[in-house]
Amino acid sequence: MTEKNAAAYYDVHWQEEGYYYPPPDFVGQANCTDPSIYQRFSLENFPECFREFADLLHWDQYWHTILDTSDAPCWKWFVGGRLNASYNCLDRHLDAYKNKTAIHFVPELEEEPILHITYQELYRRVNETAALLRDFAGLKAGDRVTLHLPMTPELPITMLACARLGVIHSEVFAGFSGKACGDRIQDSGSEVLITMDGYYRSGKMLDHKEKADEAVEAAARQGQEVKKVLIWRRYPGRYSSPTPLVEGRDFCMDEQLPAYRGRIIAPVSLPAEDILFLMYTSGSTGSPKGCQHSIGGYLSYVSWMSKYVQDIHPEDVYWCMADIGWITGHSFIVYGPLALAASTVVYEGVPTYPDPGRPWRVAEELDVNIFHTSPTAIRGLRKAGGDEPKKYNFKFKHMTTVGEPIEPEVWRWYYHVVGKAGAVIVDTWWQTETGGFLCSTLPGVNPMKPGSAGPGLPGIHPVILDDEGREIPAGEGRAGNICIKNPWPGAFQTIWKNRERYVKTYYEKYCKDPKSTDWRDWPYLAGDAAVPEEDGYVRILGRIDDVINVAGHRLGTKEIESAALRVEEVAEAAVVSVHDEVKGIIPDLYVSLKPGHDPSEELAGKVSETVSDVLGKIARPGHVYIVDDMPKTRSGKIMRRILASISNYNTVGDVTTLANPHIVEEIRKQVQD
Ligand code: PRX
Repeated sequence: MTEKNAAAYYDVHWQEEGYYYPPPDFVGQANCTDPSIYQRFSLENFPECFREFADLLHWDQYWHTILDTSDAPCWKWFVGGRLNASYNCLDRHLDAYKNKTAIHFVPELEEEPILHITYQELYRRVNETAALLRDFAGLKAGDRVTLHLPMTPELPITMLACARLGVIHSEVFAGFSGKACGDRIQDSGSEVLITMDGYYRSGKMLDHKEKADEAVEAAARQGQEVKKVLIWRRYPGRYSSPTPLVEGRDFCMDEQLPAYRGRIIAPVSLPAEDILFLMYTSGSTGSPKGCQHSIGGYLSYVSWMSKYVQDIHPEDVYWCMADIGWITGHSFIVYGPLALAASTVVYEGVPTYPDPGRPWRVAEELDVNIFHTSPTAIRGLRKAGGDEPKKYNFKFKHMTTVGEPIEPEVWRWYYHVVGKAGAVIVDTWWQTETGGFLCSTLPGVNPMKPGSAGPGLPGIHPVILDDEGREIPAGEGRAGNICIKNPWPGAFQTIWKNRERYVKTYYEKYCKDPKSTDWRDWPYLAGDAAVPEEDGYVRILGRIDDVINVAGHRLGTKEIESAALRVEEVAEAAVVSVHDEVKGIIPDLYVSLKPGHDPSEELAGKVSETVSDVLGKIARPGHVYIVDDMPKTRSGKIMRRILASISNYNTVGDVTTLANPHIVEEIRKQVQD
């Protein structure tokens, strides 16, 4: 999609907004209040400026080369350095903070007590788990292991245990289906799957173990054998799933762990450029991409961002209400906060369970003062209980929004009602690929502007280009493709086992010389349309590729379409983004049938169920429309843009150049009348 119709597609009608200034109380305590920081991180000081990031970490051996560009565009940061991520998140805090809460675990059922896990206790549990992974599961540095874990402390414990050994973890969002998990097991080449028997969602205990069996089967069909399935039990000693264990393959963690009681595993000292984890994300083709994140670059980046953008001090109580199954949770529930010795909240369930007052009761009880969530959650809480926050006695100093554009109206509710007009807000724009934030205001330095993310963060130099590579001047109200001019330590290293796709997707469009080893020749193409504003802030409009951002979760249109095509009767499928009051965007699915089949509600239901079974509930379409034919160009390409206009009740525009223009009105009537 070109820049011009990307902007039209996302229907820009926001007005320029006024500034809100950070409250003096906030500025008085902020980790950064000095505007000259942007000078320190200017391009003239690149890449040396990033030494400050590295110096937030403990290095077993200090690095000698800050940035090696010889294998461009696979950048190597802090070359020669050695470190361990688990040591940086645990061991080094013990002297000062062993008795401090590392994780507050809030179970979804309100009658279950909140668990407060100290750094000492987390250290002990991570060590015992690492011993088990090494000695019972046979895992060693460089092996991949797939995690399909929900939001309980066992997820960060398992991640840190892997990190301690140098085992590469690949966590798959628990809401994803067994099949989706199996695809990721296969791609990563994992021989071990770590999962849980069940967990709570909206008050119901879900059977999660069932998905493990499906995942193992799906991986096996693709030639990847899972030798062991390790199962954490939601209630140790009690199995909560109706799905039986498979003899010789499935093992309950709580039954094995006593053998490793008290074991301390020396953290494996690893090169900075070794892989910490894979995080799969959707792209424009059917198969998800394994974004490969490094130990040194990634950890230094999320630590700096947590300190200066999240403004975390060790005495803060920090709650990021995302899921650790997404990059936000990896960076800003687990690695960033724990590297800073913060107290981080892990909440098991849905924000509105049992009622929309729940997040505010948790905030009140734990005295949370930093809160981090998505526009979808904010819209949902506002809709379900706009006055609820007023009923509870909590006070945030800092709030984050992440994952989608936030409407100024919703931003203002967040600011006035949730933040009680006393908290600073950061709208952080970034991606799975980028490891941490790219654009945001620095909370103690810049004013906020509803609907705009802010300028590039220190050391990040964005530029917005048109399709020909010309820079779009600030303040003209035109959109273009947002790129980052320079590499940064948090950036993913490549797509796992697919360097070609990495180069093609993120760098090919604007690279003038593919042989160049000069970073200046390799602007990073983020895949979002954005408008540069006069004050240097950027307004992000949305994806320019075939990715749908549903409630802040990325789904490839191709993934949904290929799931729909599994239904025997379906001939063609096309997915479009539809604006939704709460979720921001939901997918509508158009299908046409093979000859000899008739449309029915039952069949539409079957298609919807299949998508949800294959990919998980988050991919369930808003509507399934069975149409006689798809609007097509003369070369046979389905015109999704036209279907999107119909679903969004926008004008369709000129259709005369289509191969079958008459179908457009037919579909419009079917959908809108
Ligand atoms: O389109 C942008 C949107 O989310 C995409 C990245 O999704 P994902 O890799 O799943 O990471 C989500 C958490 C960082 C981006 O390409 N996006 C992310 N943050 C914002 C946003 N859109 C507007 N404003 C944001 N603050």
